[in-house]
Amino acid sequence: MASPLTGSSTITTEVIRPNRSLGDEVALLFIPGAFLKGEQYRKTAQAIQEASQLRVWAVLTGGYDSDLVNPSQLPGAIEGAINALQQAGMKSQNYIGVGHSLGGLYLGPYAEKSQIKAIILMGCSLNRELKDYPLPVLTLGSELDGQMRITRVVKDFEQLLRDAQQSGNAIYRTPVINIKGTNHMQFASGPKTSRVKKMDLKADVTEEVAHEMIGHYVDTFLTAILCTDATEVAQAKTRLKEVFLESTKRFQPLINMKALQEKETSCPWASITQKHVAMAFDDKVHVNNKILDLSEFIKSKPSICPSDSRIDINNTALIDFEDDYQTRPAVKQSPKEIRIKLKSKQAVQEALGLVSSDEETSGKSLNELAFKTALNSATDEARERYRSRGRPIIFEEDIVTTTGQEWISTPLKTWEDDVGLHVQSVTLFTPTASPIHPGMHYYRLMAPYRALEWIIIDSLRENPIEF
Ligand SMILES: *[C@@H]1O[C@H](CO)[C@@H](O)[C@H](O)[C@H]1NC(C)=O
Ligand SMILES: *[C@@H]1O[C@H](CO)[C@@H](O)[C@H](O)[C@H]1NC(C)=O
Repeated sequence: MASPLTGSSTITTEVIRPNRSLGDEVALLFIPGAFLKGEQYRKTAQAIQEASQLRVWAVLTGGYDSDLVNPSQLPGAIEGAINALQQAGMKSQNYIGVGHSLGGLYLGPYAEKSQIKAIILMGCSLNRELKDYPLPVLTLGSELDGQMRITRVVKDFEQLLRDAQQSGNAIYRTPVINIKGTNHMQFASGPKTSRVKKMDLKADVTEEVAHEMIGHYVDTFLTAILCTDATEVAQAKTRLKEVFLESTKRFQPLINMKALQEKETSCPWASITQKHVAMAFDDKVHVNNKILDLSEFIKSKPSICPSDSRIDINNTALIDFEDDYQTRPAVKQSPKEIRIKLKSKQAVQEALGLVSSDEETSGKSLNELAFKTALNSATDEARERYRSRGRPIIFEEDIVTTTGQEWISTPLKTWEDDVGLHVQSVTLFTPTASPIHPGMHYYRLMAPYRALEWIIIDSLRENPIEF
């Protein structure tokens, strides 16, 4: 009952009883997202009950100050939920924390020092290494989440891939699932917050279908980690393996595009574009790239060196990210741009002993190549979605600079309007006859991963948004 003396006086707990009389008992303690009410998770909880052979209890917590979960009220809310379950007759101690969005952000650090046995994160991330976390964690990412971008969730999935090489158990203990066609709000139901209205993407599936999928994933995870029937556990593990492979289909394009921008200390995209610029796709041209920081990059120059059978090119790249992308999962996770210093087409053709009279390659055409590469890598469904309701990218003619200083201080230009996203490369070119730094072609380019992020997330918003 309400006590005026404690901060948690307003916390509400609604207990939902299991509707099965048999099965292992488990309780889901729901922690809501920002500005959402406890009751907005009732349908989600019921969908999990429906999907499961376990005796699933649920407690919906709510009433946090200003409807914002916070670290000072969370412990009281969880303890209160556990007391309420015991009073209602729950016998086991299988307490599972379920946090949506902001709720999940605070659940992770709290749960490891509590009675909670495992956590389920909906539209949020653990924000630390999954393998170092002491409890099993299910991370549920929505393919069309406009707040917790799937391009953020893929980082957890990449951890899982690494962990799975060390331990086959990782895909059962810390699964990371990409739920097809759902959005951020569909982990809950009822009235949307203004942030959700502004940020979230239109889902491909109804809320009911979303809850059904969530119900199955949660049930599978719970059965795998706590069911006492060995046959059920084995079946759940088989399903988790299938879910892992099914999620991989949607995560893989993101991983592939990331791999083009950064592989150890080099940028594969700088090698690909160098060959493209040189129109030398055979193994006659061998490109070595190095990613540098700004001060090193400014000083760097590409070099070319013919040998007997081939020519070697060394070039450099600098990758720029959005300032706060690591702390804000709603911010674009792909690079803002890639700057590359290439040898010009003219320089390469001359080194190959060819007469070069063709035009140089524009930054615009390299950006079009990035876009084509990204679109080809996307899943059929994502490509279809983009074609039917994505706003296009308009590739503008290059901004051609004339000095190194001007080039280094003029960022790749991008802007959104009602038509779509405009992208304008910034280039600097010197002829091979030039007395200083001859045969260079510098470009400021859109990363293929940025093109993919546009295709699968930002193009799907009906209007440009401010972050
Ligand atoms: C439990 O409730 C769900 C709906 O919430 C229903 O579909 C299911 O049949 C119920 N199970 C039992 C055993 O009553
Ligand atoms: C590229 O760099 C490597 C190592 O730094 C060097 O050995 C090689 O000669 C360079 N090649 C060119 C074409 O400058």
